[in-house]
Amino acid sequence: MKEIVIPLLTWFNQNKRDLPWRGDVSPYEIYISEIMLQQTKVEAVKPYYHRFLNKASNFFMLANLEDSELYKLWEGLGYYSRAKNLKKCAQEIVNKYNGEFPKDYKDAINLPGIGMYTAGAILSRAYNEKIAAVDGNVLRVFSRLYLDDKDILKDTTKKYYKEKIEKIIPDTPGMFNEALMDLGATVCMPKIALCDICPLSSFCKAKRENLVLDYPKKKEK
Ligand code: ADE
Repeated sequence: MKEIVIPLLTWFNQNKRDLPWRGDVSPYEIYISEIMLQQTKVEAVKPYYHRFLNKASNFFMLANLEDSELYKLWEGLGYYSRAKNLKKCAQEIVNKYNGEFPKDYKDAINLPGIGMYTAGAILSRAYNEKIAAVDGNVLRVFSRLYLDDKDILKDTTKKYYKEKIEKIIPDTPGMFNEALMDLGATVCMPKIALCDICPLSSFCKAKRENLVLDYPKKKEK
């Protein structure tokens, strides 16, 4: 497992997507980006990200934003429950944590709208915490790497990989998590796998067996 770390990070340094929420960004900006990216694709999020930050540039402003303004800013991103939770979450962060996103994983997952994946993505990127962010993209990569038949829709599979990844996560956890996300989004895709340019292809069992597109295994309903 550990053998994937350096090839993945080297690949990411050379091939990472240039996204507005990468580089010098605050925990608040990271939080906003991860909530927007929960159910919306990268390309669709891009135009919303800066527009939102211009109107609410920290947790205090977000906590006090008028609902009508909030919904206007969110219109088009869909899933309004996310917008509702966004304000609730900001209010809790203002009241309980002085307007700073908490560093502790348990505190983070108890906030409205934040699950295991989002907490891992935020804490690793904002505070260098060694916490994995395991979503469908990441599970696809690992199910192929290890020719793993486990059902990726199950929470137990997510937890299994979360623990496995946390054992190898390097001192740049945010970069490592984003590298896995980018690999899943641009190389190890659901219906197209660009194995020729994949930094992990020499470790990939599915590639060796010529079964890449058969993984992750679809479970019978
Ligand atoms: N999807 C969710 N979080 C992401 C991030 N930080 N970068 C790219 N895609 C993502």
